[in-house]
Amino acid sequence: MSVNVIYGSDGGATKGIASRIAKRVQGRSIDVKDATRSDFESCSLLILGSPTYGNGDLQTDWEAHLGKLRAAELAGRRVALFGTGDQETYPESFVDAMGILYDLVVERGATVVGFTDTAGYSHIASTAERDGRFVGLALDPDTQSSKTNPRIEAWIAGLL
Ligand SMILES: Cc1cc2nc3c(=O)[nH]c(=O)nc-3n(C[C@H](O)[C@H](O)[C@H](O)COP(=O)(O)O)c2cc1C
Repeated sequence: MSVNVIYGSDGGATKGIASRIAKRVQGRSIDVKDATRSDFESCSLLILGSPTYGNGDLQTDWEAHLGKLRAAELAGRRVALFGTGDQETYPESFVDAMGILYDLVVERGATVVGFTDTAGYSHIASTAERDGRFVGLALDPDTQSSKTNPRIEAWIAGLL
């Protein structure tokens, strides 16, 4: 299985998590700034990750390079998502960027895998929640940092 992990990151937290995930699955970790359209298409599992900024927005590099994702042919492709956020300071827009990525890849025909339970989080609302589950891996390095690595391990075990 070939895996590309494409991420955006302002402060480095999401970059570090993308590297960790890529290492665990022997995949490539690619900053969305450097990603080509082919990086979205040339793998058997595509993993996309973004922190949430503003009040429920995608990270700025994602916004600037969204054209590559919009142009990618994802019909029938397996895509998994992860999002970083802060549920205490932003309880009403927790990991919303993951919900934005979800809608974009579903529009492009992707099959999203790796939904997770919302138990263990204290947020109030998230657009990354659909039918009571997160559409991918929700991480909070700011207020639940000790849970990050166990959550990554459990998620990867479910994906493989
Ligand atoms: C100005 C600002 C706005 C933020 N807005 C949100 C938000 O709406 N929802 C959320 O879950 N996290 C929000 N966060 C938290 C970040 O998503 C979180 O710290 C993330 O781990 C940062 O990742 P990075 O270091 O890769 O940039 C915000 C952080 C800042 C500084």
